[in-house]
Amino acid sequence: MCGIVGYTGKAQALSPVLEGLRRLEYRGYDSAGIALVVTPGAPLWIEKRAGKLANLEETLGANKPDAHSGIGHTRWATHGGPTDTNAHPHLDNEGKLALIHNGIIENYVELRAELEKRGHVFKSETDTESVVHLLSDARKAHNGDLAAAMREVCSQLRGSFTLLAIHADEPGRIVGARRNSPLVVGVGQGENFLASDVSAFIAYTKHALELGQDEVVDITSSSIVVTDLAGTIITPREYEISWDASAAERGGFPHFMLKEIYEQPKSIADTLIGRTAGLDPEITAGINLEGISKVVIIACGTAYHAGLVGKYAIEKWANIAVDVELASEYRYREPAVDGTTLVIPISQSGETMDTLMAMRYARSHGARVFAVCNTNGSTIPRESDAVLYTHAGPEIAVASTKAFTAQLIAMYLIGLHLGRVRGVVSAELSAEIGQELAELPSKVEQILETVEPLRALTRQFRDSTSMLFLGRNVGYPTALEGALKLKELAYMHAEGFAGGELKHGPIALIDQGTPVIAIMPTSRSPLHEKMASNVMEVKARGAVVIAIGDADLDSAAHNIRIPTSHEFLQPVLAVVPLQVIAYEMAIARGNDVDQPRNLAKSVTVE
Ligand code: M6R
Repeated sequence: MCGIVGYTGKAQALSPVLEGLRRLEYRGYDSAGIALVVTPGAPLWIEKRAGKLANLEETLGANKPDAHSGIGHTRWATHGGPTDTNAHPHLDNEGKLALIHNGIIENYVELRAELEKRGHVFKSETDTESVVHLLSDARKAHNGDLAAAMREVCSQLRGSFTLLAIHADEPGRIVGARRNSPLVVGVGQGENFLASDVSAFIAYTKHALELGQDEVVDITSSSIVVTDLAGTIITPREYEISWDASAAERGGFPHFMLKEIYEQPKSIADTLIGRTAGLDPEITAGINLEGISKVVIIACGTAYHAGLVGKYAIEKWANIAVDVELASEYRYREPAVDGTTLVIPISQSGETMDTLMAMRYARSHGARVFAVCNTNGSTIPRESDAVLYTHAGPEIAVASTKAFTAQLIAMYLIGLHLGRVRGVVSAELSAEIGQELAELPSKVEQILETVEPLRALTRQFRDSTSMLFLGRNVGYPTALEGALKLKELAYMHAEGFAGGELKHGPIALIDQGTPVIAIMPTSRSPLHEKMASNVMEVKARGAVVIAIGDADLDSAAHNIRIPTSHEFLQPVLAVVPLQVIAYEMAIARGNDVDQPRNLAKSVTVE
């Protein structure tokens, strides 16, 4: 939520700052703004506009201020509506100090009251503006040392934040800080960057530094100094970014989402490489997987659905009880957890606040934490005992697609690995599932090659008010995921149900013409017949059934064929048509595919 970028170096700063904002816009698109040091000592140059970055770019036109350092922000609004005034950056009363922020300052009301008493004049309704005034006073108290001022201010703040600040009297210097929100450093040659994630500067450098909790970073074009809040120097972890700028571009596709759907054969294959026969000891070195009494998977949204599928596979293969918890519920109910609990947080971004907090709760009660994450350098893996990285590459579209299928692969790999550690997975089962996993990329490829007619079929339901999704066993979380995709992209009522639950209430929703998507268990499964009966029941009440399965179902109005697979692996295949349906429905209804309304990619606030 909110994208943040800072640049200092020899180039004209506007260009890398704008480029960074373009790449971070998926994090929030309620407003965008930039502040630059054009004339040292004079008030800062600032431009900010409500709405998408395009509005700001239109305002800028051909205006190219001459500056070599600056900061930019793209906002997902929390405190104060999406207006020009509430847009970041925010300025102090002299117009010489600018601040941008991602997160929520929980004690902003008391800070504001105190600052107003001291004569500060506020312009916006944001929580952020309190911080810029506080920083202004602190900087004066520290004889113009912005980094020292930032350390002092951070100690007074409650909540979560990434902050970046510049001052007109210190051209070329940017000071940042983080607590429970992401901030990474891009190390260039004669130039340096700060950003919410590496995609902002990947076109300029692949060399990055990770910042820890409550750390302050002070950069110029030729120096990077990281300290804790007491001012003690910290040596940050360095890493190389393994993908290049083209991975974060559309590459000829009309939308990132479509590109990411089509990248799935590769992202699944990349996540599997070298792992089907057992996880690399390097991955599990930090965690003891023996003597575990239960597994708790914690996640949000799509990642939660991946966890629900994981439950079926892990329970069966590793013969251990698995709970799957919505992180936002788990963290506030003091659940029973101890040193024999294995907690698996799943997160594409590695920054989701609820997942992070739930994981911290479990850890503080002794749990062992084995994260599944797609983003190197992010907070969740950094605070875990071990991490299984999914190799989906950067996912830019707000709706998660390739990250989901990669998370499913991670669930299967963990299930098999735990089964081996516990001595309950036979060599035959291991080889059989390994072979089935290896076949998934080409099976997804086959689906993508034959998916075109589904787009025309989807358009037939453009004006439907509701769409229901049915599944059994692993098809149930797949149905939930299909419904979530449709909600977020088509803004249409959609719900997923377990086939066996229909008669307990949901069947009352079926009316003449209600579209129902049935995820048919693979024809090898005994549940296939049960689901076929559920299809008959809804059809008898007027539903138009679209069946997704490895064999045609005579009772369905439309059949979408997917290859046969092991029953637990089927969600990897069945979800692909569901992604295409949601994508096509968004287009048919004139919605913004990559940036659906009210959403942001990375939910770093509660
Ligand atoms: O980055 P995370 O995997 O932790 O994100 C979790 C959810 O916010 C995310 O999956 C969300 O539900 C997606 N927009 C769904 O498409």
